[in-house]
Amino acid sequence: MEEQTKQLLDWSQWGRQWIERMRDQKKWNRELEHHLHKFEETFIQLGRKAARLNADTQSEELPVLLARAEEVQEQFHRFLRLVQLNEPEKVDAVVTPVSYPSQREPVPVARPLSAGRHTLPPLPYSYDALEPHIDAETMRIHHDKLHKKYVDDLNTAELKLAEARANGNFDLIRHWERELAFNGAGHYLHTIFWPSMSPNGGGEPSGDLAEAIRRYFGSYSSFQAQFTQAANKVEGPGWAILVWSPRAQHLEILMAEKHQNLSQWDTVPLLALDVWEHSYFLHYQNERDRYVNAWWNVVNWRYVEERFAQARKLRWQPY
Ligand SMILES: [Fe+2]
Repeated sequence: MEEQTKQLLDWSQWGRQWIERMRDQKKWNRELEHHLHKFEETFIQLGRKAARLNADTQSEELPVLLARAEEVQEQFHRFLRLVQLNEPEKVDAVVTPVSYPSQREPVPVARPLSAGRHTLPPLPYSYDALEPHIDAETMRIHHDKLHKKYVDDLNTAELKLAEARANGNFDLIRHWERELAFNGAGHYLHTIFWPSMSPNGGGEPSGDLAEAIRRYFGSYSSFQAQFTQAANKVEGPGWAILVWSPRAQHLEILMAEKHQNLSQWDTVPLLALDVWEHSYFLHYQNERDRYVNAWWNVVNWRYVEERFAQARKLRWQPY
């Protein structure tokens, strides 16, 4: 019972977070805003009902609510898909969210995911939204095929390791631990990567993040120069990543080979640039530096500032 209400609360929170991000990143016409608003109300209502059911373990309402929640999720995915495909005129025909009375409530704290339950986050904008800097075909393959595979393979690794723990058979431990690290890092980095870009991106950060960049790197331009060089010089596929170190209490720029090699653990990634060839080859061929330069035009600094504000709340003994 408790597991299922947790799941409902997760769905409710997930939906609201996506809607919040989508609002930040796109100009919505009245029609789409109407749908977005309806979904938002539905997710809020879902969370409220789940919180109430959690206290009432005898309720027979739960299976009904779960079925409804699954339906809402499916409709929301369909809606996101049409937005990504830039086919908003079809929304009315395929999406029929139920409306609920408007009432705000605080977002609940995220609940832990059980093994094998990771899902692919939808793109918070259409495939072609970042053109001309990042082309639609690259986005489609990168998100729908490659990121999806990291999620699937991460789930498999988690389930295989759970099975090994249950059987006490760890013969394949090295293989599954490697799969866990590679696909887990791949999934988490891509999950940061999509909202780190926006059709309204570019420019420079502001507020505390701008100040922290100035304090540690000297200036925004020297930060940008180091980050650009790091992205260009990753040996083979990998990432350039801006991280916050809760121990040193300062920012840092790191390179990661593949997804997980050369990482500095104990830090929080704030901004990640994917420099695997799949993220630029179709449009820029082997000219990674042109892709990296174009990418600065779509950086979503609002998202990075939000991650920075959360990360800074961590306080660890400095060593
Ligand atoms: Fe990638």
